Amino acid sequence: MFSHEGPARNARSNSVLAGYLAFVAGFANAAGFVLFGAFTSHVTGNVARVSASVARGDIKGAEQAGVLVAVFLLGAVTASLLVETNLFRRTSSAYGAALLVQGGLLSAFVVTDAASLLSFAGDAYLNEMGITNRLQPDEVTKLCNTVSEPNDTPGADGLSDIDHFARFIRATKAPARDSQLASSALAMKGNALFVKIGCATCHVETLTTAPAGTKIDGGTFTIPAALGSVTFHPYADFLMHDVGTGDGILQATREHYGKKVFQMMSAYLAKQDFESSRNKIRTAPLWGVRLRPRLMHDGASLTFHDAIVRHAGEAAHVTQQFEKLKPDDQEAIIQFLKSL
Ligand code: HEC
Repeated sequence: MFSHEGPARNARSNSVLAGYLAFVAGFANAAGFVLFGAFTSHVTGNVARVSASVARGDIKGAEQAGVLVAVFLLGAVTASLLVETNLFRRTSSAYGAALLVQGGLLSAFVVTDAASLLSFAGDAYLNEMGITNRLQPDEVTKLCNTVSEPNDTPGADGLSDIDHFARFIRATKAPARDSQLASSALAMKGNALFVKIGCATCHVETLTTAPAGTKIDGGTFTIPAALGSVTFHPYADFLMHDVGTGDGILQATREHYGKKVFQMMSAYLAKQDFESSRNKIRTAPLWGVRLRPRLMHDGASLTFHDAIVRHAGEAAHVTQQFEKLKPDDQEAIIQFLKSL
């Protein structure tokens, strides 16, 4: 398909090639959207964004959209040059080289943005306790200006408070399951129903940590052997969802993160990412949930049944499935939760 030219270039090879190209374009768009909050290969859309941003006086937005269009055109010209050169030289795979270059560039874009207990500790030190640290070095003054002054400096062992704090949390264990209840027929049936009706799409049963040696937090933390490739059962995806329980309060980004927020916005988060968080809550991990007397982030649900039927928004369809279950089946899910 990559080498067909002249009479060999038939409708079949065209449609296979079109399928691959559509996949690559779709992947580039999806990855671009996740990373930058924009459809990277949507030329007309980005041209419209340039004019809309100029009209709003958002020069940075206009620049970003303009760069996307320019990069797209540059990519198209480079690919055509590669293809034409290969056709001229009668290289066996005229299109393969262009696709390989594109694939290489795309894989360079597949970056992971990992949150960790250390970044959580850094954030909590600043935003809950007002202590600046190396991950959040900006002190926000009363006038909302920022001055750089990390309060949390390393001790003689080279570790600062946030490192000790993160180590302490890493060393704490989730309570073990109630093995007797977990092996009862009712809880096992509840487990199957929990997966079947879709609770497990957010309350993911099993996760595995990245391999030892992986660098996260912008390269500031290397996963040690003890934490690498560990399989655990949190019953959570640790992601943010709008399940209708949010308070609608948007984090005041500049006051919260200081000037660094603009770096974050231009590097890997779009303004919409911050704004879309206003009603989102992190999926509560359900390990040890049987020991919690109050449920949901506001503690307003006192029974498992109440907590489940409060799930709306992104979980509305799953809640409907739960409500449609026979009382016995609902009870099975609750028994399963009691075994966690
Ligand atoms: C779209 C994602 C999603 C789905 C689907 C979902 N949940 Fe949740 N669940 C959440 C989020 C987010 C929270 C935290 C909400 C809050 O704190 O306000 C939560 C909280 C809970 C809690 C409270 C835990 C605690 O410690 O407070 C329970 C119990 C629970 N879910 C059970 C279920 C069950 C059972 C189902 C299936 C019927 C389900 N969830 C489906 C996202 C989801």
